[in-house]
Amino acid sequence: MAAIESVLNEARVFEPSAEQMARASIGGMDAYRALVDEAARDYEGFWSRLAKQHLSWHKPFTRGLDESNAPFYTWFADGQLNASYNCLDRHVEAGLGERTAIIFERDDGEVQRVSYRELLARVCRLANALRARGVRKGDRVVIYMPMSVEGVVAMQACARIGATHSVVFGGFSSKSLNERLIDAQAVAVITADEQVRGGKRLPLKSIVDEALGMGGTEAVAQVIVYQRTGGDVTWQAGRDVWLHDVVADQADTAEPEWVDAEHPLFILYTSGSTGKPKGVQHSTAGYLLWAELTMRWTFDLRPESDVFWCTADIGWITGHTYICYGPTAAGGTQVMFEGVPTYPNAGRFWEMIQRHQVTVFYTAPTAIRSLIKAADADEAIHPRRYDLSSLRILGTVGEPINPEAWIWYHEQVGGGRCPVVDTFWQTETGGHMITPLPGATPLVPGSCTLPLPGIMAAVVDETGQDVPNGQGGILVVKRPWPAMLRTVWGNPERYKSGYFPAELGGNLYLAGDGAVRNDKTGYFTIMGRIDDVLNVSGHRMGTMEIESALVAHELVAEAAVVGRPDETTGEAIVAFVVLKRSRPEGAEAKQIADQLRAWVGKEIGPIAKPRDIRFGDNLPKTRSGKIMRRLLRGLAKGEQVTQDTSTLENPAILDQLGEAI
Ligand code: WT7
Repeated sequence: MAAIESVLNEARVFEPSAEQMARASIGGMDAYRALVDEAARDYEGFWSRLAKQHLSWHKPFTRGLDESNAPFYTWFADGQLNASYNCLDRHVEAGLGERTAIIFERDDGEVQRVSYRELLARVCRLANALRARGVRKGDRVVIYMPMSVEGVVAMQACARIGATHSVVFGGFSSKSLNERLIDAQAVAVITADEQVRGGKRLPLKSIVDEALGMGGTEAVAQVIVYQRTGGDVTWQAGRDVWLHDVVADQADTAEPEWVDAEHPLFILYTSGSTGKPKGVQHSTAGYLLWAELTMRWTFDLRPESDVFWCTADIGWITGHTYICYGPTAAGGTQVMFEGVPTYPNAGRFWEMIQRHQVTVFYTAPTAIRSLIKAADADEAIHPRRYDLSSLRILGTVGEPINPEAWIWYHEQVGGGRCPVVDTFWQTETGGHMITPLPGATPLVPGSCTLPLPGIMAAVVDETGQDVPNGQGGILVVKRPWPAMLRTVWGNPERYKSGYFPAELGGNLYLAGDGAVRNDKTGYFTIMGRIDDVLNVSGHRMGTMEIESALVAHELVAEAAVVGRPDETTGEAIVAFVVLKRSRPEGAEAKQIADQLRAWVGKEIGPIAKPRDIRFGDNLPKTRSGKIMRRLLRGLAKGEQVTQDTSTLENPAILDQLGEAI
């Protein structure tokens, strides 16, 4: 809470300069307020106007919002369009075919430039191949790809034929991939032989083989493999095909499949408070509208002159909205990077900004914090050693940014000239929700400031009543907006009860975060998740998921997982474990902890590996048998237990569990 106090008392305010105001698409707070007022006066009309202006429709819509089957809202439902058409063809038709869409930099530094004309041709060739191989509108295609132009091509090719893609982050294990393939009932997988990160080659195809070997995935008729490295792969004839082979004879034009506005563009799995990840389902029109519009509002994108770079992976929502769809829908030029920020050294980001003359840079607080450390340790890779004068806007996403990191980013990277937009949003929201607007919003380090026009964000209590500014509460959104998720794939009940809980009245979207608004400014500060979801390096992890993975190990009887604040990664995962056998100590404890860590890596993926594992004879529980998680969170931080422990059967276990291995 100390960190939040310091943000609420943050006195530094950074006003936009006259120059920033003059050039921004929403220049100044008056323009922002005018849009907010327009949305308040005529909510549906506001969104409909924007949807007409920013999207190209095959068949225009006549209806805006439909709330008749709440909370299963629809937007622009009788209109038809195609996402890939909006991202590619319309720019080529407007004479912008030669504009660079993607500047792709490989891990080893090799650079490839892809124009809009070329990207469209590649998308069409794969779309034709998918069609020829029997993939149809509405089918689900799982994409398990490295950061690559081919990854974007795969997503857009699915969109072009109306297939719903589900991208699985390349760091997830075969087990996680298997679960997602089953849940989505995928008919095809698009993957690569290997991925390359930080000079290392990591397998992808063999993980797909393993996932398909686990069963339940009989619907997967084909695996299309992009050859990235030429590394060895095993091949199942009849099922596996090379991407370069299937596109070889295909035409480079393909009629887009015109889909209804509500057609599911993609499903993206994310962690919640149960053991099973949920498939967040997004629409086509509402989602794409927001991807395009937030590129212009939040990043003030000038497609003709900006070079945008979002460092996220396409396996996460940030990569969907701000790599695959947003920059292309807006017709901009973007950098896409295969590798990691620390290879060949921790100056890679700064070097790339300099090399490609990046103007708008978007990354995660965890990356900034680790690069601060690296720059402190090695002057040679400090951002001041690079020419970063091309930059004009900086953004962050994924977790709260502490004021110190914000100030460093602003000064050392942005030279004090560039507004920092701290964008709060979620997989479920499709795009930015609460964020400053460059050239308009006065900035306060550590605050995501104000909701975008049309986003009715509020802070309420447990009964859904507004709380006064200055008082903490639950972050909600009061009205459905076009880019919101439509349902949880295959589980409408979970959508309804999870996001529109009856306790809040059933009509407020529950974000799952705590928030507080500043007394004077009304600015929002996000206080972190109120459910059992952790945020590790900007990655969302369910504690229950990790617990289920741990108890699936033959040695483990019981496990409880909590987060501990961490300077670099935001939170670190700490697991309290009771074994079926006696409590291990010393070298043996260390060895079993390593074994369990590796196990979780195998079960879920390396990002879910606990930082600390602690063993006890038991876990602290209330009389009714509930694990006392608050107490465990305290122990994880190394705090003395001050809580009443009289209900504990065996208080001695607190000493055991407080002991780091
Ligand atoms: C959760 C959503 C949005 C893309 C990346 C993460 C946290 C996100 C911020 C921010 C404070 C933030 C929230 C949210 N979060 N952005 N600017 N300030 N917290 O997407 O994996 O769906 O995670 O990330 O806790 O609920 P996600």
